[in-house]
Amino acid sequence: MTEPILSVRNLRISFDTPTGKLDAVRGISFDLGHERLGIVGESGSGKSQTGRSILRLLPENATVTADRMQFEGRDLLDLNRKEMNQIRGKSITMIMQDPKYSLNPVIRVGDQIAEVFIARLGLSKSHARTNALEWLEKTKIRNAEQVFNQYPHELSGGMGQRVMIAMMLSCNPRILIADEPTSALDVAVQLQILLLLDNLVSERKTGLIFISHDLELVATFCDRILVMYAGQIMEVLDARNLSEAKHPYTRGLQACRPDPASSHEDIPVLSRDPAWLEEQVKTK
Ligand SMILES: Nc1ncnc2c1ncn2[C@@H]1O[C@H](COP(=O)(O)OP(=O)(O)OP(=O)(O)O)[C@@H](O)[C@H]1O
Ligand SMILES: [Mg+2]
Repeated sequence: MTEPILSVRNLRISFDTPTGKLDAVRGISFDLGHERLGIVGESGSGKSQTGRSILRLLPENATVTADRMQFEGRDLLDLNRKEMNQIRGKSITMIMQDPKYSLNPVIRVGDQIAEVFIARLGLSKSHARTNALEWLEKTKIRNAEQVFNQYPHELSGGMGQRVMIAMMLSCNPRILIADEPTSALDVAVQLQILLLLDNLVSERKTGLIFISHDLELVATFCDRILVMYAGQIMEVLDARNLSEAKHPYTRGLQACRPDPASSHEDIPVLSRDPAWLEEQVKTK
């Protein structure tokens, strides 16, 4: 890994719920360099909340603490609202898991992308429009002109995802957090999006956090993998060495990949052991 762009130590996230406190992330530590860092784990393991906490995009019932969340010499948790707003959508951006909810429902999608160019890069309205259309085309949206003029509720899931991707990639961020960015896309479009993400990392020196439940996709696309379970990091792996994974949870995830050649009687069940929660990976 290169010099860290982001350094997170002992991150904890809990939610106040009507039935009591829920610990979603329990003391995780990791660094992000100029790399593609994958975060995998089953549903509810804390992947999205980890990503959202970096941008401080958690609801009011959440409590976030960390010994350190260092980015460009500053601790993100110490920044005030104004300082955080300057970082969001510029230095650090996030492609949300539910893009439709992240777009403003009453503004046409093209205008929302163009606004990024106007507000962040100071482009004129017409120049921003041209750039927004170009980015929509880069994400393989065929009828970019038409989509430009639509409202978020008029888009399919995959189109919404691509609009969000266009918006976030165009910011040229230092850190991009992509939360299941290709889950609603068909394989061909998925590949194009992965190429765009890859370009961002290799040409613009962005640090990418790629969140997914798809271990195989992450192993193919990323450089390193954090394996999360129940709000903790079970294992940190070099993506090339996935087959050398030691932790029983990672091996269980690998074993649960569907194999068309096996009969349905052979479908393995992912086993979990409470003792794992005592032994999470420590990064100093
Ligand atoms: N607003 C909230 N209030 C209470 N609990 C929450 C809230 N948001 C998330 N959680 C809980 O935090 C835990 C971690 O959630 P998170 O969204 O990070 O999971 P995930 O790993 O991204 O799962 P998935 O693969 O399904 O997206 C879950 O138990 C979830 O129920
Ligand atoms: Mg999630």
